[in-house]
Amino acid sequence: MLAQTPPMGWNSWNTFGASINEDVVRETADAFLATGLKDAGYQYVVIDDLWEADRRDAHGRLRWDESKFPSGIPALADYMHSKGLKFGIYSCAGSHTCGGKPASYGREEEDAQTFAEWGVDFLKYDFCYKPMGVDGRALYERMGQALRATGRPILFSVCEWGTMHPWNWAAGQAGAHMWRTTGDIADSWRSVSDIGFERQKDLHPYAGPGHWNDPDMLVVGMYGKGNVAAGGCTDEEYRAHFTLWCVLAAPLMIGCDVRNMSEAAKAILTNPEAIAVDQDPLGRQGMCLGRDGGPDSPWTFSEVWRKCLADGSVAVGFFNRHDKRGAIMTAAWEALGIHDCRPCVVRDLWARRDVGEFTRSYADNVPPHACKLLKVTPVR
Ligand code: GLA
Repeated sequence: MLAQTPPMGWNSWNTFGASINEDVVRETADAFLATGLKDAGYQYVVIDDLWEADRRDAHGRLRWDESKFPSGIPALADYMHSKGLKFGIYSCAGSHTCGGKPASYGREEEDAQTFAEWGVDFLKYDFCYKPMGVDGRALYERMGQALRATGRPILFSVCEWGTMHPWNWAAGQAGAHMWRTTGDIADSWRSVSDIGFERQKDLHPYAGPGHWNDPDMLVVGMYGKGNVAAGGCTDEEYRAHFTLWCVLAAPLMIGCDVRNMSEAAKAILTNPEAIAVDQDPLGRQGMCLGRDGGPDSPWTFSEVWRKCLADGSVAVGFFNRHDKRGAIMTAAWEALGIHDCRPCVVRDLWARRDVGEFTRSYADNVPPHACKLLKVTPVR
């Protein structure tokens, strides 16, 4: 059974875009092992669009761009497997990929077969160049069916940007393991904030083991460089971004260049206690319990989120989206579903220490664009 917890890995798009090649992908796999990413749970190394040649081969099969992948895609898949990692690739439900390369419309079965033969473990399936009048959902169903028919377990990552409300049908009809809920993320607080807070908050009922809402790849550690550059974020903002994705039980697909990660980015991406919240086996997506606007900034909020965990404890995210002022935020046991007067241990998952034992509630002060990630555990 694939994706019983949210998939974790890396995708080439955010940093490399068109300038992807086999050296980068191999070195990324090496960095997974050298930096501890693999030990932290990251598994899938995924090449996004623009790996393809301009034309199919004489038999109509997809081909890789020989100048970027001179050793070939199957060799790259083998390399991932030799490192104990998994290999992912990209195609599109339309006639061409978003980058204008050949895509899988009308060729779903043969392309799925090709991917299976190459040793692919993960397919991201995009939505550009859909022929007019064709039902988009049917195209995802076709590819899902074609992947299953190969007999190889291939994780199916649907990317139609939330346009057809995939949370309603992608898991059931298409057999998808994850689906994008929005357009593309960019490396800025505004983008992270819009996608992460505004666009996910009603989607928690739809995620669970084997099928996840995907708010797009992480921009942690990009610092304004790369293919989705938009000014960059501070480390505090990257920490809040990562924390929110963990509370959302989102797939954790790294987007930065992991060969050259800052210490701060590495510490964020490998915090085992935050990752454990994301990967909790209960598989609940967190929800927003309440937000506070405030007179000086009616359109920004401080928000309290909760995610119920398998062991009966509750993860709590305090997020301060205000630009300038600190915010005091409170987690009331009642709102967490814990009996009011029950003593609970509060643990700070970034400081990685227990803060103490509290009854009824816990409050803390959070600076602008920062967060707290807490675990509230009833005392037995
Ligand atoms: C779309 C997707 C992106 C990326 C590009 C590749 O925009 O949403 O994530 O895959 O296409 O061209």
